[in-house]
Amino acid sequence: MTTSKTLADFLDASDIEKLYKPVGEAIGLPGRMFGAEFYALEQRDYFPRIWSPVGFASDIPDPGDAKPVELAGWPILLVRGKDKQVRAFLNVCRHRAMRVVTEPCKGRSTFMCPWHAFTYDLEGKLVATPKIGGDRSNRDPSFKMEDVDLKPVRIGQWLDMIFVNIDGKAKPFEEHIQPLNDLLDSFYDLSTLKRAESWSTVYEGNWKVAVETVLDEYHIPFAHPQLIQGVKHNNHENAHHDGLYVMTSNARIYSDTRDSGTAMGYHFNFPRILKENAPEPRSHFVTIMPIGAIQTRPNHALLGLFLPDGSDKTNIVFVHYYPGESATDPAFKQARDENVVSWKEVFAQDTPFAIYVHKNHEIRDAAGIGTRMAPAWEKGVASFYRSMVEVMRQ
Ligand code: FES
Ligand SMILES: [Fe+2]
Repeated sequence: MTTSKTLADFLDASDIEKLYKPVGEAIGLPGRMFGAEFYALEQRDYFPRIWSPVGFASDIPDPGDAKPVELAGWPILLVRGKDKQVRAFLNVCRHRAMRVVTEPCKGRSTFMCPWHAFTYDLEGKLVATPKIGGDRSNRDPSFKMEDVDLKPVRIGQWLDMIFVNIDGKAKPFEEHIQPLNDLLDSFYDLSTLKRAESWSTVYEGNWKVAVETVLDEYHIPFAHPQLIQGVKHNNHENAHHDGLYVMTSNARIYSDTRDSGTAMGYHFNFPRILKENAPEPRSHFVTIMPIGAIQTRPNHALLGLFLPDGSDKTNIVFVHYYPGESATDPAFKQARDENVVSWKEVFAQDTPFAIYVHKNHEIRDAAGIGTRMAPAWEKGVASFYRSMVEVMRQ
């Protein structure tokens, strides 16, 4: 995470000019912005400045549950307190910087650092320092325990998704997230959704390439034909809200009635989440900047995370949600399992794009090759790049 470089070392004035041309003429980010040197800069000047999703509240359902997560190398400990509130701390012991918690755990009242046993409560307060004063003393008068608490991290929650802002300077979370509610509220009642199955996969590519594999609607007929099977017409929409979301939305029109559609996920009989007056059939695929996603169908949804693991690997986690009892009812188990299999197939179809696009980013600058974007489909790709640059230029 240590670098002496700045954004200008990777993206000069002429690169910025090209990035901001009309989408049909614009040139995407240089390949060097997908490598290890730039990742160090992202760790310092991007991820700490923004609200980023990083985990799921349902991973820590009960008081005393905790889960260590990472946001681009920043170690974060998510904790459910006795008051049922979720809190986040930097998972860095205030003694000599060990990770205090390295595995998910349940029902704890304290966390003891494994190195020298400094012990913190669920609110991050240092409450014990065993043997600090010698073999028979748990106190040392010259070592003040105040100001040695775990460093808290700002937190926000949207649906089941936990967001953090590490530098504490981003706008209030409610203000940040409101446009996402505005986008989806007129279509869906998401309040009935309950967590069901989850799964994970790994892409051997930079996190931005991983996000790009879901960012556009353009590739779907070619890479995922099963997603639009039976669709006569695809009313594609594309929108973004700076720094929060990039949205690809479909009102997919079938050859006869909406229920006859065989495109993935429409045929399940889960209760509906689509509101009565919402146009249908309807789905939204929203990239929640920078590394989150929500995919909706008229009767279920998925939340996803694309967690950077170094500059050339991305850990992907998806959690499925269904209305009310259908999330756990055995009568729906087969349909839920089929849905998981279908979505895993979609992400397997995208795997080669993550691998080979990443490899090509590593060499293409030397050949003078910049990337291009199709205006009808890929305004969101341009928005994704530009929003990131805007944060890092601050
Ligand atoms: S580093 Fe945690 S107790 Fe020493
Ligand atoms: Fe895809």
